[in-house]
Amino acid sequence: MSLIEVQDLTKTFRQAVKAPGLVGAVKHMFTQKYREKQAVNGISLSIEAGEAVAYVGPNGAGKSTTIKMLSGILVPTSGSVMVDGVVPHKQRTDNARTIGAVFGQRTQLWFDLPIIESFALLKDIYEIPEAVYRYNMDRFTELLSLDEFLHQPTRKLSLGQRMRADLAAALLHNPRIVYLDEPTIGLDIAVKVKIREFIKQMNREQGTTIILTTHDLEDIEDICRRLVIIDQGRIIYDGSLQAVKDAFARERTIHFQLSQPLSGNEHLLTDWPGAVVEQKDGQHIAIRFDRFEVSASEVVSRVMRLGEVIDFRIDEPKIEHVIRRVYEGELVLTDAEPPKAMVAND
Ligand SMILES: Nc1ncnc2c1ncn2[C@@H]1O[C@H](COP(=O)(O)OP(=O)(O)O)[C@@H](O)[C@H]1O
Ligand SMILES: [Mg+2]
Repeated sequence: MSLIEVQDLTKTFRQAVKAPGLVGAVKHMFTQKYREKQAVNGISLSIEAGEAVAYVGPNGAGKSTTIKMLSGILVPTSGSVMVDGVVPHKQRTDNARTIGAVFGQRTQLWFDLPIIESFALLKDIYEIPEAVYRYNMDRFTELLSLDEFLHQPTRKLSLGQRMRADLAAALLHNPRIVYLDEPTIGLDIAVKVKIREFIKQMNREQGTTIILTTHDLEDIEDICRRLVIIDQGRIIYDGSLQAVKDAFARERTIHFQLSQPLSGNEHLLTDWPGAVVEQKDGQHIAIRFDRFEVSASEVVSRVMRLGEVIDFRIDEPKIEHVIRRVYEGELVLTDAEPPKAMVAND
């Protein structure tokens, strides 16, 4: 059995249908119209210990609702969730020992308490042994630079500081699983990088299982190997991040460094279907090509005929571009298998 087992999970919300404003609110008191919103619509997932899974999808797709059911905050309408042998919303105490959770939108720390005291309370609540607490505090303080605000109350922290504190709080009791719902939303790049490094370390070194929802697709590229995409409450893709890239990101760019500027023979680079010279300044050229039409070795050998190549590097496509196209309905992914016509020739 996997660490997390989800079968045919659904969640239906009853949403009030009312006209805006006070008049609408008063009318609603008498008419009480509701409509059903199927936020999660039959999701099945198995997640193994030690995985780092990105759970992405457009706004309103049902990501947070899923995470809340996995973490035991919400009761499913139907279907089943089993996390480390426990039904989260039924065995909440057992579940709490296994998991940590960070919800980007709101803090789980005591608002008026200095951070260090919130941590001390968590130590008591989770009965964290002194040695573990010391070890984690030292480590987290260093990795997340907590010392600059450990003695300040939560309410005085900036968003980035608060998020670092929340992350540390969620991991203090060495949970096997952490759910991170938009942990980098609204943060500047330096803080994002710090948070990503931290999550990555916990996953790689500690074997902590990570379930991450994020708008920031750079987060997932950095942290996750598995990608689950949901749309309108249903999973539309579940497979490796690399498989999506390999199958659907057709474009590659190769940057070359030459021993001397090209002299007069550049025309050999034009008139080449499937490839475009993107940048050309003296000893540097970059060639963008469709790898389903031209192979990387063809590009390299052609440039080598023009001049002496000192160095070259191939740019991987950004997963961001691929996922956007999935959201926009341009790409249809059913499973990790690429369509036959899209098998690359490099
Ligand atoms: N407590 C709630 N009551 C009513 N509708 C809700 C509630 N929470 C979420 N929804 C609706 O369920 C859908 C999925 O929401 P959510 O899971 O928050 O999406 P995501 O996190 O992917 O943006 C949305 O249409 C949202 O409006
Ligand atoms: Mg959400």
